[in-house]
Amino acid sequence: MLTDRIGRIEVSATMAITAEALKMKAQGIDLADFGAGEPHFATPQHIKDAAIAAIQNNFTRYTAVAGIPEVRKAIVERHAADFGSNYTIEECVFTTGGKLALFNAIQVLVDHGDEVILPVPYWVSFKDIIQYAGGKVVYVESEERENFRITAKMIEATITDRTKAIILNTPSNPSGAVMSLKDLEAIVRLAHARGIYVLLDECYVYLNFTGEIVSGGSFTDCKEHVLILGSLSKTYAMTGWRAGFCLGPKAVIAAMSKLQSQSTSNAASFVQKASIAALTGSQECVSEMRADYIKLRDRVLAGFKTIPGLTCTVPEGAFYVYPNIGAFLGKSGVRTASDVAAKLLSEAHVVVVPGEAFGTDEHIRLSYAVSADVIDKGVERIREFLGGLR
Ligand SMILES: Cc1ncc(COP(=O)(O)O)c(C=O)c1O
Repeated sequence: MLTDRIGRIEVSATMAITAEALKMKAQGIDLADFGAGEPHFATPQHIKDAAIAAIQNNFTRYTAVAGIPEVRKAIVERHAADFGSNYTIEECVFTTGGKLALFNAIQVLVDHGDEVILPVPYWVSFKDIIQYAGGKVVYVESEERENFRITAKMIEATITDRTKAIILNTPSNPSGAVMSLKDLEAIVRLAHARGIYVLLDECYVYLNFTGEIVSGGSFTDCKEHVLILGSLSKTYAMTGWRAGFCLGPKAVIAAMSKLQSQSTSNAASFVQKASIAALTGSQECVSEMRADYIKLRDRVLAGFKTIPGLTCTVPEGAFYVYPNIGAFLGKSGVRTASDVAAKLLSEAHVVVVPGEAFGTDEHIRLSYAVSADVIDKGVERIREFLGGLR
């Protein structure tokens, strides 16, 4: 009954866990929920006000499919000011969330049999979206002891004559690893020289704690092969609004807009207005949230230090920790990271996502975009649970 292509993908693992956690919450169970990858902050007031004003002013009709010129101008100007990129509005499409920007980019670039290089650990959706398009995922393993670093040399070793694109995501979901400007530049230059597209997922680009915020858009002489996939979801605590974009070569953007014209059409009109307020207004809300995330990260890591056997790299961005639970596998009938996640949920009432969803076997992912109380309660429950395994 169903198509071959729908059979090639799975339900997003994070969404599956969220659904189970919601069921338990509805039964009145008190969960320490580190599952969902979204800010716990409210959307800043000036952004909400802009959407309300747009609705009041009846800005509620269809717009240009790729987004109104003003929102695309706000996107390219923000990106130029922050990263020195030089996109025009014809090189920008506004989408219903960052995920759709990624989905459409892959649909217009990747054909059956094309190879797409994907560093491990990876965000769940990359693999499925590539497979949906008929592409072949070529994984590049990274080393935890090297903080999951990915270098041009590692990428180069996997390039074949079928390689169409490389996906990079820095800061990374799930590991929080951040690429250095040098590594990023080397990969962008390698791809450009070889005629391969770099799809740069910048969903967490402003949640970088190193003080050196980097974007692939800075290398303007390589822009012919660079696609920036952006999202307002995490930067401005706007996950439910569905606001994302792609910056890239005009022909690719035109193809993505064509695809969008036959599917979602424009993103919601008033969300476009709210996005202009987000991008052109004061960016203080972004630095305030970033400062809070750093404190929350340090709190989780301090908590983890009190759990014998648990190790964790220090994430330098996003809002995830990716601890290694390898020392506990094989104890009390717990064999896999998925077993750990399932038992943490059913026995300790802690929501985490198992590493298998991100391509590694010995980790669990926790989102620390939660209150300090939830962190304290959750870490305590994890300590008791893991300490009880024999
Ligand atoms: C790495 C990464 N890219 C893209 C997205 C998509 O974000 P959105 O569709 O909410 O803009 C997410 C969301 O979790 C993400 O983690």
